[in-house]
Formats: sequence, structure tokens, C-alpha cells
Amino acid sequence: MEKKLRIGAIASGGGTNLQSIIDRCRDGSLDAEIALVVSNNPDAGALERARKAGIPCRCIDHRRFASREDFDREVVAALKEAGVELVVLAGFMRLISGVFLEEFPARIMNIHPALLPAFPGLHVQRKALDYGARFAGCTVHFVDGGVDTGPIIIQAVIPIHQDDTEESLKARILVQEHRIYPRAIQLFARNRLRIEGRRVFIDPPLPAGETALVNPPLANEP
Ligand code: GRF
Repeated sequence: MEKKLRIGAIASGGGTNLQSIIDRCRDGSLDAEIALVVSNNPDAGALERARKAGIPCRCIDHRRFASREDFDREVVAALKEAGVELVVLAGFMRLISGVFLEEFPARIMNIHPALLPAFPGLHVQRKALDYGARFAGCTVHFVDGGVDTGPIIIQAVIPIHQDDTEESLKARILVQEHRIYPRAIQLFARNRLRIEGRRVFIDPPLPAGETALVNPPLANEP
């Protein structure tokens, strides 16, 4: 059997993305194992999910550290000690510093609940609605020094409904997040991702199809 990719997951919140990765590791569709879950928030649901799944987890409370760099050093040390090869940010609500990036170059992924490069940052489902966008979605990308700016690995697109609220849109995007994050990790685990500048190439390539999404839909009506 091939060696499994060792993942370190970092989460601040409920951890539904973490759960989707745990589930895919378990059912064998992901050639990876979660070596460690770290949270900066002692009350994170993600820690509870890790405990339930029997995955080693640690709370490293950022409030104990004088600077972002000091906090990052401690997290990096924990990840290294656990033999982590790929770091996945799963609802980690803090920016990471150069300290982190240097230790895991091109080995940190993030999931963002918008179609980047539109709507980086926070409260992005609300922003997409308020803007009047017709489509929303989610993006898995490699992390670089910016806020949600790194090379894009995979995206899922959904139409925004006329009666969508922030909550309904969040929920529908989350369903897609749970599909694409494990997929991005699996492509990495199989060594199929190659970064060239801003672009991520998949080797061998996967056919993307030609289907165009249109919203509101085209119809034979006046
Ligand atoms: C998700 O919407 C993710 O895209 C964003 O933070 C949220 C985390 O949700 N980065 P969960 O903790 O995985 O349920």
C-alpha cells in the first residue's frame, strides 16, 4: 500500500470542512490521514470532531502569544512534530505570517466561500448577495502572503436564487465546500498539482467540459 499523505488541519470554528475530510479519509476516497488538528479556539467544534474521530488534536490559544509570528512558530512546531506534509486551513479565522509560509512552501491550502478573485475576506456570502451577483461558490487555493490570493486549485459554482438569504446561501455553498476540499487534497496526495506562476496545472489533465451556466436560465418565454 502506498504511503498516505499526512495532513495537519487548522480550524477555528465548527469544523464541517474538517469533518468532510475525516469522512473521506475514512471511506478511502482520500489517500491521506489527518496527523493533527490544531485550533486557536478552545471552544471550536473542530476539536470535538477530532476527539470523536480519535485524531490527535491541540488547542493553541493565540491570546497566549505576544505576536502573530510567535503563535505561528508554535503551530508550525506542532505540525512538524506530527510529521505533517500538507497543511489545510479549514475555517481558520486568522492570517498566517511568513514564518508559516517559509516552513510549508506551496504546502498550505485554504477554502474560501466565494468565487475568487471576487469577494476575498470576510462575510463574503452577504457581499455576493448585496452586490447582486448571479453566481456564488467556493474556492480551494494554495496560500500565499495575501488574503485569499493564492493560486486556485478548484472551484464550485452555484446560482444565487432570488429568495436566497445569507444563511441559505452559506448552507448551499457549504455543501459544495465539502465536495471540493477533499478533491483538492486528493489531487495533491496523488502528486497531480503543479504550480506555474498563478496557475495550477493538473497532471494528467482532467476534461473540464463545455457546459455554460446561465442564471436566470435561458427559456423560450418572453
Ligand atoms: C467555511 O465557509 C470556509 O469556507 C470558511 O470558513 C467556514 C468554515 O466552516 N473559510 P466549517 O468550520 O468548516 O464548518
